Amino acid sequence: MATKWVKRFLISDAIVLVLLVVPLVYAVTPTTAPTGFDNLTNGFESQAQFDLDRANFDSREELADGLGPVYNAQACAECHQNPVSGAISQITELRKGRFDGFTFTDSPGGSLNNDRAVDASIQERVLGADNVVDLRSSLNILGDGFVEAIPDSFFTTTQANQQAQLGVGGTIIRVPVGEAAAGTTRIARFGWKNQHASLLSFAADAYLNEMGITSPLQPKENTTNGVVIPAQFDHKADPEDAGTTADPFGTDVGAFTRFMRSTKAPAPDAAVANTSDVLAGKSLFTQIGCSICHVASITTSPGGTVINGGKYTIPAAIGDKIIHPYSDFMLHDVGTGDGIVQNGGQGTRTKMRTPPLWGLRTHDRLMHDLLSVTRDDAINRHFGEANPVINNYLNLSVTQKNQLIAFINSI
Ligand code: HEC
Ligand code: HEC
Repeated sequence: MATKWVKRFLISDAIVLVLLVVPLVYAVTPTTAPTGFDNLTNGFESQAQFDLDRANFDSREELADGLGPVYNAQACAECHQNPVSGAISQITELRKGRFDGFTFTDSPGGSLNNDRAVDASIQERVLGADNVVDLRSSLNILGDGFVEAIPDSFFTTTQANQQAQLGVGGTIIRVPVGEAAAGTTRIARFGWKNQHASLLSFAADAYLNEMGITSPLQPKENTTNGVVIPAQFDHKADPEDAGTTADPFGTDVGAFTRFMRSTKAPAPDAAVANTSDVLAGKSLFTQIGCSICHVASITTSPGGTVINGGKYTIPAAIGDKIIHPYSDFMLHDVGTGDGIVQNGGQGTRTKMRTPPLWGLRTHDRLMHDLLSVTRDDAINRHFGEANPVINNYLNLSVTQKNQLIAFINSI
């Protein structure tokens, strides 16, 4: 009898251990997030669902799907694909607006100039009064599920560290979370101007503004220079991507969001990662202060954390993960700003979000306007808040500069 009881106790004890101790251990031991340009899920969703969602991200929309009337391209992957779906590309978009010396105002219809239209008569153009015009490159979305899970504390801590080291900290802005209750905001981290905090909000925004497809979060078609486009050019009733019980914000928007959250982070080049030049460059990157803004390591919030105004619970595949994005996801004036104001107010006119450098080895043109073609040129374009660090760079020997560049070419 006694032995049986002991046995039973041990079994139930083991179950208690699995239930209680494992989640605790999990929460306090972050692991490195998976990386790879391999079309494989990071574990957020099954591989079969990932393949379906990626096919949706890759698929070209047609008039019958609601494409346009004004748009920029026919598939998410057209602008996010090198070397696999979700990564970066060489595509730029045209931004425009007006600045009177004090205040930036939007061009009629907004700052994005749609480059394509379903009919020649409704082509959008930069207007004579638009004295601010700039190009803006597409961005990598691989690994963005982890970026979405970066805790608020990271931004405030990093900002204070920058204040101490550079005399000025990055700008943190809060933006609306479209899928949450009206008035809900969260610290922004996506887009060159930090337009969004949620990948679901970004997906709906991109579907409308890149492809002209309306959805429950973005139910109104774009205009041509502020002029409402005649109904004959709109081939589907709004919302063109309608919601369902499973995907209340649109079936395609839901698929894009799942796909983005399921992607692995960009993979560094394993073949060179441990060469002496890359290792020396990696130390220099930290030593001279590049990592003050291009932050090397961030740990995501624990699994189970509820974010995006209560609309998203971070799963185990995304929570407690160490990522190496080489960004602080904050806005800075490094002397290159595009002059456009979006969500951050007039103070952000000349600021850009620090671009993550993960995946940089797949970019041949650099900076938000893609106007730099060498790494040295991109680094030399930094001024303003980056001045002390760029002075350190200028003082490196040619060998050291080459080592630093070998490092950023390896990530
Ligand atoms: C015509 C090209 C184009 C298409 C098509 C396009 N994008 Fe983008 N994407 C961009 C550009 C340009 C940016 C940078 C936007 C900015 O900051 O102004 C971007 C940025 C993003 C970001 C922010 C990434 C980050 O880490 O900051 C996400 C997310 C995104 N796109 C998702 C999508 C989705 C989903 C689709 C399909 C519905 C899509 N995009 C279609 C060009 C495109
Ligand atoms: C004060 C913050 C700050 C510091 C310090 C800083 N950067 Fe940047 N970096 C930025 C911002 C902001 C941009 C985007 C500028 C733009 O596109 O207009 C950028 C852009 C870049 C790019 C282009 C990335 C791309 O995707 O096109 C590279 C490469 C880069 N930085 C490397 C470095 C290196 C190397 C150092 C150290 C010598 C450094 N940065 C220091 C903020 C910083």
